[in-house]
Amino acid sequence: MKKSRLDYCFLTCSKAAIISIILIAIIASVSCSSALYTPSESQQTASASLAQLQEGRKLYVQKCGSCHTLYLPEKYTKLQWQQFLNEMQQKASIDNLEKEQILKYVSKGL
Ligand code: HEC
Repeated sequence: MKKSRLDYCFLTCSKAAIISIILIAIIASVSCSSALYTPSESQQTASASLAQLQEGRKLYVQKCGSCHTLYLPEKYTKLQWQQFLNEMQQKASIDNLEKEQILKYVSKGL
């Protein structure tokens, strides 16, 4: 009797653990892939065309994600992004033009 109760507990507990691991994995993958905005026409500004925003996103993903996760554009102000980009320029070996394009993307063309 005692043993079967233990077995039952083990089964339900591990089932719950497996389900939560799966749920966490799904939530993590969904939030990761949708979090980094994909520029649309309505997001163009006076200083950033759709093509520039798209190019900026491409460069950001290519050049900035190899050492750490890609920080969300919303996380920092334009001024902070400018400072980080200056610090990261050498690490990412990007030229000034690429830096400007990434800045346009992460600061949402502001
Ligand atoms: C060669 C590795 C490397 C590459 C490539 C790289 N980074 Fe970094 N990044 C780091 C390291 C290491 C730190 C943390 C230490 C530091 O602040 O210098 C960091 C920190 C940061 C931070 C600071 C986070 C905080 O809260 O302090 C930001 C923002 C950032 N990187 C953005 C970028 C951007 C944008 C690019 C692309 C242009 C980039 N990184 C490319 C290595 C890299």
